[in-house]
Amino acid sequence: MTATICGTGSYIPSYTMDNHDIAKLVDTSDEWIRERTGIARRHIIQNETTVSMAAEAGRRALEDAGLPPEEVDLILVSTISSNLILPCAACEVQKELGAVNATCFDLSAACTGFVLAYNTAMAYLTGGIYRTALIIGSESLSNLTNWKDRGTCILFGDGAGAAVLRAGDFGKAVGTYLPVTHSDGGRGAALTCKSRHDYNGLNCHKGSGDDVSYYMQMDGQAVFKFAVKNVPEVIGEVLALNHVDPEEITYYILHQANRRIVEVVAKRLGEPMEKFPMNLEEYGNTSSASIPILLDEMNRQGRLRAGQKLVLAGFGAGLTWGASIVEWRSLRQ
Ligand code: UT7
Repeated sequence: MTATICGTGSYIPSYTMDNHDIAKLVDTSDEWIRERTGIARRHIIQNETTVSMAAEAGRRALEDAGLPPEEVDLILVSTISSNLILPCAACEVQKELGAVNATCFDLSAACTGFVLAYNTAMAYLTGGIYRTALIIGSESLSNLTNWKDRGTCILFGDGAGAAVLRAGDFGKAVGTYLPVTHSDGGRGAALTCKSRHDYNGLNCHKGSGDDVSYYMQMDGQAVFKFAVKNVPEVIGEVLALNHVDPEEITYYILHQANRRIVEVVAKRLGEPMEKFPMNLEEYGNTSSASIPILLDEMNRQGRLRAGQKLVLAGFGAGLTWGASIVEWRSLRQ
């Protein structure tokens, strides 16, 4: 059985904070943030939630695929910032969309989450277990951000992106690519955030005090060094494993964390920057939502064509990292 992405969608909150707004909160500047990260602004939730953004991105992806919600067999939501512990975000999305036949669960692997959701869904589809999957990355990182910490608050934003995957007779190559993924819990201290529901007897943390461990804390340089070493390596691994030459790849769709990371990865792979689309200037780092938001933008701009090969690559907290090759298809092309 083969399977492929056949529709995309996204939802971006309309409220924005640009670098000048951030400079009113911490000692930083528009110039510093642009130069070190490439980020100019980020979109921040107002009335939205992780679940509401996930549902809207999912609805738009199904519309793009031209499939009714009843056809969906599997809904996966990748998130580290759901507004709900129970029920899972994926079940809420199911309810919102009326995807009554779907099996639903969430997946948590930070900025690698969407790549792992893609791999998980592909395993179900190519294994013949399900025919149609809706995978979503949705994040409200503004809730986990310490707005007094200039080392992190400049980076993150909110949003959701989604893709519909469909099993079918799409040709020999499609859906037969093997992914490469890695985890290294031993280096997890580089990027941490305690749960607000971290119990100490009866004292459930309410997330309102000055204890910064309940917000994202990051050793920025350690994460930067990890990314520029491990991302080119894992892309090299996935290409070699599948006997695909770099020349066959139309786009490398990397997790959008920092423009300098993307530039170093391109250089180390010896590939031109035109193959590395970016939108982090507008959205900042939206963790597991960044890859599907970018994918959806490119799809809607008409930049994705049937038969193109793409590499999706994620990296982040855990530490986790991985890459997958996607052959683009649209049910309408
Ligand atoms: O999704 C995956 C998770 N995260 C990432 O991918 C993040 C990876 N890391 C990064 O993107 C970068 O490390 C940062 C953007 C976070 C920081 O950039 P950097 O070039 O690594 O800066 P740095 O931490 O080495 O700091 C350089 C200087 C320091 O000052 P001194 O010691 O040289 O005087 C910092 O105190 O810049 C200072 N600094 C700032 N200055 C103005 C740190 N943050 C800021 C800031 N504004 N926001």
